[in-house]
Amino acid sequence: MLKRRQLFQFAGVAVVAGTVGAAGVYYGSRRSSELAGGPFRHYPFDPVAAANFQQKLFIPVGSGPFGVLDVAGPLKIRATAASFPLLPGRESPFLLYQTEQAGKAYQNPILRIESGARFTASLDNALREPTIIHWHGLHTPAAMDGHPASTIAPGGRYDYDFTVRNRGGTYWYHTHAHELTAEQAYHGLASFFLVDDDDQRRLAKALDLQLGVTDLPLVIQDKQFDAQGKLLYKPDAHEAMMGWLGDIVLANLTPNAVQAVTPRTYRLRLLNGSNSRIYRLAFVKDNTALNFTVIGTDGGLIERPETVSEAFLAPGERLDVLFDAGQAQPGEDIFLRSLAFDAMENEGPAGGMGGMGMGRMMASMSSSRLPLGAEFNVLKLSVTAGERVVAKLPATLSQVKPIPTTGAAQRKIELSMGQMRFLINGRTFRMDEIAFDVKRGAVEIWNISNPTLGMPHPMHIHGFSFQVLERIGSPPQVAATARFGQGRTVSDLGWKDTVLVWPGETVRVAIDFAHDYPGDQTYVFHCHNLEHEDGGMMINFRVKA
Ligand code: C2O
Ligand code: CU
Ligand code: CU
Repeated sequence: MLKRRQLFQFAGVAVVAGTVGAAGVYYGSRRSSELAGGPFRHYPFDPVAAANFQQKLFIPVGSGPFGVLDVAGPLKIRATAASFPLLPGRESPFLLYQTEQAGKAYQNPILRIESGARFTASLDNALREPTIIHWHGLHTPAAMDGHPASTIAPGGRYDYDFTVRNRGGTYWYHTHAHELTAEQAYHGLASFFLVDDDDQRRLAKALDLQLGVTDLPLVIQDKQFDAQGKLLYKPDAHEAMMGWLGDIVLANLTPNAVQAVTPRTYRLRLLNGSNSRIYRLAFVKDNTALNFTVIGTDGGLIERPETVSEAFLAPGERLDVLFDAGQAQPGEDIFLRSLAFDAMENEGPAGGMGGMGMGRMMASMSSSRLPLGAEFNVLKLSVTAGERVVAKLPATLSQVKPIPTTGAAQRKIELSMGQMRFLINGRTFRMDEIAFDVKRGAVEIWNISNPTLGMPHPMHIHGFSFQVLERIGSPPQVAATARFGQGRTVSDLGWKDTVLVWPGETVRVAIDFAHDYPGDQTYVFHCHNLEHEDGGMMINFRVKA
């Protein structure tokens, strides 16, 4: 493991060159020109300033960007470079998935399909660089999964054909290009993959929910822009190591988004599509966090609605929530906000150097003006007059059968740091190396541990879902919300494919490696901090037939 002293030497390159401002802004030589615009609070799209929230939220409609596409046959998808007005009136280079169905054109469509249906698509790579699509959360044969080894060259094509075996839920798809995932996903190659089933329809009926109206997929991302309003992505060595942070926060590609709501219940399918930022989400009115109800996590609905007032959401994770906008009066505003938290970056047991944690120093050197753990707004809900509808929540949403774990093999998964990279079981990713085999049909318990000197890592598995059994050694800010038994938080319930592991924690997950695909199947397990993934915080595991 990298020792604090080595870490300091690495950080020292910049620390010696400049000073760390009290407000957490780094005024070192490299970035002084980029900060010429003045303090962050004057930045026109500053998500901290509530008054900036004026842009109408981009809502998925029947076609076009983020159009809802009910999959009705084979799709031809093209990954292509385009431009998109992310900031109002300013075009930015952007990467998009384009497709057509029934004479309608879509960009980054929200794909919607029935559980059990066949999904057939071809991907044409019209980019100037290699790419591949991964179906995040879906259970597919390895050849259909978008493993980085499946990456295709410019001009290449990849054919997908698989049965959607997952239960109803909010999944997503994004680029998994070998060592280019972070940059390509940041520039746009990602969208939703919604799976429907009877449980989902029952819920929609009970609460009178309509996709795009009262049931809103909401992808949250943070970006940096240059002076021309173009997307900026140029991580230096320390940002490549820690993860790239933005300082403008987009909800469905809308900066400072506002959505009008009536006093009724809305379903928000929250997806953290950011490269590395973790959000601590709450619905806030007049500085008070209101209640909301979690109904689902990564792999669909949980058993019963659970009411909470905050939840962490790490890159790759989904949280399906119901929010009753009737908790405010017409004319009032509610903010979906990310509350302040301790980012715990590189904090040792002693709590850092001279009162300032290493992490805080590292974070303060980021080119983002919004450090990890800062408080800011994501979306404004402005309550308008309308009929007050009080939702009657179903007592039971779905059934989540616990994975039987008696006699299950235990596997140690240790996250660590070395040579300025984050490692899994001491390894960095090698395409041709299998870290370990698991037996098809076996149930395993993975004990994923993160040393105290590190940072939080959202760990993600391909090909399977897991259940979180226990969280041990959680930091106070996590333990404070762990009221679901065995140290678990609301984000740990149900079926998961991504779980956040904080410094000092061991998270125990159960995985059932049953599938009926013939022969051996190789998948990846990796950190969903996309800079970490591209940096090699990923391993291959093989499911032996
Ligand atoms: Cu969403 Cu391998 O990732
Ligand atoms: Cu995935
Ligand atoms: Cu990581």
